[in-house]
Amino acid sequence: MADRGFDLKARIETLEANDLKRALSPVDRVAERGYFAEPSGSELPVLEAAEALVFASNNYLGLTDDQRVQDAARQAAATVGTGAGASRLVTGDTMVHRDLERALAEVKGTDRALAFSSGYAANVGTITALEPDVVFSDELNHASIIDGCRLADAETVVYDHCDAASLRSNLEERADRATQAGREPADESWLIVTDSVFSMDGTVAPLRAICDAAEEHGAWVMVDEAHATGLYANGGGVVQAEGLEERVQIQMGTLSKALASQGGYVAGSDELIECLINDARAFVFSTGLAPPAAAAASEALHVARHSDAREKLWANVTHLRDGLESMGFEVWGDSQILPVVVGDRMDAMTLAEGICERDVVAPAIRPPTVPEGTSRLRVAPMATHDRDDVIDCLEAFRAAGEETGLL
Ligand SMILES: Cc1ncc(COP(=O)(O)O)c(C=O)c1O
Repeated sequence: MADRGFDLKARIETLEANDLKRALSPVDRVAERGYFAEPSGSELPVLEAAEALVFASNNYLGLTDDQRVQDAARQAAATVGTGAGASRLVTGDTMVHRDLERALAEVKGTDRALAFSSGYAANVGTITALEPDVVFSDELNHASIIDGCRLADAETVVYDHCDAASLRSNLEERADRATQAGREPADESWLIVTDSVFSMDGTVAPLRAICDAAEEHGAWVMVDEAHATGLYANGGGVVQAEGLEERVQIQMGTLSKALASQGGYVAGSDELIECLINDARAFVFSTGLAPPAAAAASEALHVARHSDAREKLWANVTHLRDGLESMGFEVWGDSQILPVVVGDRMDAMTLAEGICERDVVAPAIRPPTVPEGTSRLRVAPMATHDRDDVIDCLEAFRAAGEETGLL
């Protein structure tokens, strides 16, 4: 009989042969420390005997087990419900969604904000709803931006990572081509899109220079603040730190990292939000964000704005970066994400295993996620790590680095 099925076994074997197969390692809780289990496939996981320090989470402010955030989720579940029950446009639009959106708009300095069921959905939904003719995209932008460009069927021009000069020359080149083809600027819609903090490199986009270049060509700017929301000025992102609210037309982000919840958001003008409510298929045809998730994010945003959590995070970042660099490790980036760049993929694996044996978790990031020769350990401290946790992490790096000959 003819076989028109899918040879999944061969696919998995290829992944294994290329050392690219990923696996799930469950943990008992989401916090600055936890008990992990070996990947167990369909079997129930068995937790390790030793507790590990987690330096690998995007729970940057450590708010997932904050009493206030948990109470907010509990209360929303009890009073509003555990799920939205329908798309926001049907009956899933609740007061907790509105409360969250008002708080996000206030922090982001925009008319309004709109919550999506994930950051992925927010990016895909927004880019496809805008239907840009041309997107100028940083080469290291997140997969959800890339997928949004693909689904929007936009002509996508990729510029060099965090390089405003490269963006500028691509804008000029594309403008010249349009002129030669007899097109007026108003005939095309252009969108420049960038992450603000890049998750694997810890780099921060040069937003001011990007806005300068955009304005010269009348393009709009969309900034993905997934790894920045809650961490910068007044609980905002890099857009707030740089005071660029008036020059960035679309700010998006996720509720799933520093805001300790689940979901995504877009913040911008009244018109933008009205368009998204009508045209973003990922919003229209998807159940509203779960009310406990909305309430938890709202409370986490409040804590991010009004507590010392941000200060504690940045103090841990400085301590850890200084410690790693003074040992001789190469640490990239300018943000809370500290990529310890080792180079060789096997060296990165060995170093990650070495610190894991010392009960510190920070994953090795290898090709194809990052370019060949730049394998690294992605180290992400949290506000709730105390001084001793940071020292334990540094000691693990020192011992594993010496053992592997990397130091
Ligand atoms: C830069 C960036 N944008 C968007 C997303 C997607 O957000 P979410 O995890 O809420 O779907 C992520 C996270 O994975 C991200 O790192």
